[in-house]
Amino acid sequence: MSSQNVQDALENSTSDASLAHARKVSAKIKEALKENANEFRVLTGDRPTGNLHIGHYFGSLRNRVALQKAGVDTWILIADYQVITDRDNADSIRTRAYSLLADYLAIGLDPEKTTIFAHSQVPELNELMLPFLSLVTDAELRRNPTVKAEFEATNGRPMSGLLLTYPVHQAADILFCKANIVPVGKDQLPHLEQARVIADRFEARYGHGSLPGPIFRRPQALLSEAESVLGLDGTKMSKSRGNTIEIGMSADDTAKRIKKAVTDSERFITYDPENRPEVANLLLLAAMATGGDPEEIAAEIGNGGGGTLKNLVTEAINEHFAPIRERRAELTANPDYLAQILHQGIAKARAQAQETLREVHTALNMAY
Ligand code: TRP
Repeated sequence: MSSQNVQDALENSTSDASLAHARKVSAKIKEALKENANEFRVLTGDRPTGNLHIGHYFGSLRNRVALQKAGVDTWILIADYQVITDRDNADSIRTRAYSLLADYLAIGLDPEKTTIFAHSQVPELNELMLPFLSLVTDAELRRNPTVKAEFEATNGRPMSGLLLTYPVHQAADILFCKANIVPVGKDQLPHLEQARVIADRFEARYGHGSLPGPIFRRPQALLSEAESVLGLDGTKMSKSRGNTIEIGMSADDTAKRIKKAVTDSERFITYDPENRPEVANLLLLAAMATGGDPEEIAAEIGNGGGGTLKNLVTEAINEHFAPIRERRAELTANPDYLAQILHQGIAKARAQAQETLREVHTALNMAY
């Protein structure tokens, strides 16, 4: 039986998908985490579509390391199957998956504490899709905001069955390992709602057979509070815009990118996110990399202008990422080690998925 504050944080009663509600739940979870970290299991994932950049790092990766340090059992899924939801080929997925793994380990995720696995290698997880599909309707999936958003981004391409059922797929990712928290941005809240709905409907329709209680835990969002960083041109940081700094980039390339960053014509540096978004973003990057305060950094630079600001950001980022990059280089030079770590994570994920699937078969009267 979990402690009361954990129960409260993960409250079972409502299914309110609103942002305000998610923020409240998230705040309670953060409190409960301080005292009862061992009652939580986190599941999160990334698509292996390109190298991770410092936006990912400051926005979410860093927080995973913090959760691991706090003693939360953390599971990370390399969402390789998800890559083919919205693109027509599977080029370089393998290379990218290993690159993602190198990023994870380089930033400090410890494979002894954090289970890292590739989605495609856990057949029992994927098999959960089948019973789960019996619990959702076509209309409901078409209404899902994340499905809609991804569909709109495909420029008139017809909806594939995989894209339509992507929330079900993702629910299986979360539910198979009995994660009770999922660190996400607010755009992913509908997914979590869908996962809770599936967990509830499974219990309502099929029950749990001879098992003592419901098979699935209801997952809640742990909303990220980090201010999101923009790309070096002041627009959303994204690989395709060439405005990113990758975690694994060299110090020289980092300097070159930052040199080209957009600023404005005002020499005196101030932190004014509303009116000077590009300058404010550079200040924010420096602050995040040094643990400082963007306003104080702005005051220090003052009349030094954009050149001084850029030098400072370059130094801050290169210094922060130097040990991470060094470790990353060692890791990528040792593909056998990376493969061993991935296989170890897959074995652990499979054992868990097999157990869950056995329970599901029991509930479904299919345990022969
Ligand atoms: N959908 C996430 C993305 O677009 C990746 C992902 C797959 C995920 N399965 C997940 C995230 C489960 C959180 C929980 O990158």
